[in-house]
Amino acid sequence: MRIGVPKETAVGERRVALVPDVVKSLRKNEHIEVLVERGAGDAAGHPDASYEAAGADLVDADVAWGADVVLHVAVPSSDEIGKLNSNQLFIGHLAPWTAAETNRALAASGVTAFAMEAIPRTTRAQAMDALSSQAAAAGYAAMLIAARESGRFFGMMTTAAGTVPPAKVLVLGAGVAGLQAVATAKRLGAIVTGFDIRRAAWEQIASLGGRPLELDFIPDAEGEGGYARPLTDEENAQVRDALAQNAAKQDIIVTTAAIPGRPAPLLITADAVRAMAPGSVILDLAAETGGNCELTVAGETVVEGGVKVIGPRNLASEMPAPASQLYAKNLENLLGLLVSEEGAVKVDFEDDIVAAACITQGGEIKNERAAGK
Ligand SMILES: NC(=O)c1ccc[n+]([C@@H]2O[C@H](COP(=O)([O-])OP(=O)(O)OC[C@H]3O[C@@H](n4cnc5c(N)ncnc54)[C@H](O)[C@@H]3O)[C@@H](O)[C@H]2O)c1
Repeated sequence: MRIGVPKETAVGERRVALVPDVVKSLRKNEHIEVLVERGAGDAAGHPDASYEAAGADLVDADVAWGADVVLHVAVPSSDEIGKLNSNQLFIGHLAPWTAAETNRALAASGVTAFAMEAIPRTTRAQAMDALSSQAAAAGYAAMLIAARESGRFFGMMTTAAGTVPPAKVLVLGAGVAGLQAVATAKRLGAIVTGFDIRRAAWEQIASLGGRPLELDFIPDAEGEGGYARPLTDEENAQVRDALAQNAAKQDIIVTTAAIPGRPAPLLITADAVRAMAPGSVILDLAAETGGNCELTVAGETVVEGGVKVIGPRNLASEMPAPASQLYAKNLENLLGLLVSEEGAVKVDFEDDIVAAACITQGGEIKNERAAGK
């Protein structure tokens, strides 16, 4: 059984699907060979020699793409999908709920494709949950970038020339990324407030040293599977008003609010941005799904009245080494369900994780949600 790791080609993608430690661990099974494209790990701090030392073979792109199982990070391009065939397994991000064309192209290639976004959020699947591992990296990166862009001391600084007060930080949305952002701002010494419409998150914000913003005029919005339900228009308007008052007091706002498969909720209006002090920073982690701030433009920084509104794409890639390490471990754990001890591929649809994550097989879009049914 040959596992291929091609070099990522998406613009700005610095992560790699396998790191040398995980190659070494996979190679403990004598039936498994790992074929890494030359240079695949360079941007994540893993030179070719470290893969060779871990037991991988260094190969050209076509050889890596021709392996029995291809492991990838970014959604593959149509050229890349064109290299796949029905004898192969492909595992990576596929954006299966939004990229209908990718789903169709994968089905047409015949490949058996698994989407890391479709791994269920169950206890058994936690060790394979790349949405969580990459969200943690993104939340951490978001706060470091916001800190850098603000040009402020986060912690209080007492010097002979006087005392500079700590920065005031607000984090909106306290899922995996938001809680990591709260923890990071707190470690840097800021005064941190966090907000979520799920009440369970308030306790989690407090446990990290943040102050939960308890907007208790909104009923608990925890819905199916622990995810937030969308608010009504009226509730949304009430939340935006309350946040506008709070935002004006903050130096930095990091927004991460999301509801799976829907556009990001609008939380910070253009007027709320204009009420903030010049020099303040908003970093919108939801930029790619429409943004939590009305002025966000994905991939750009907009300046309004001296307030920077930053809309980064692919923040996990800003932390390429640890994000790749966690992602590779997620993949290794998933491979444990798909590859037998004898090194044979086994796709068992009786397994709920395998069934949920498989998007295409045998020329069809297997996953009903991805097929739009
Ligand atoms: N394996 C597991 O069991 C597992 C793993 C990760 C997350 N989860 C659960 O999934 C849920 C969401 O986690 P996630 O990190 O994927 O979140 P996410 O990225 O989907 O969303 C981020 C956060 O935004 C919040 N949000 C949505 N609309 C909002 C609004 N209008 N205002 C403010 N906040 C808003 C959500 O409640 C969520 O906390 C949590 O209950 C979490 O415990 C479970």
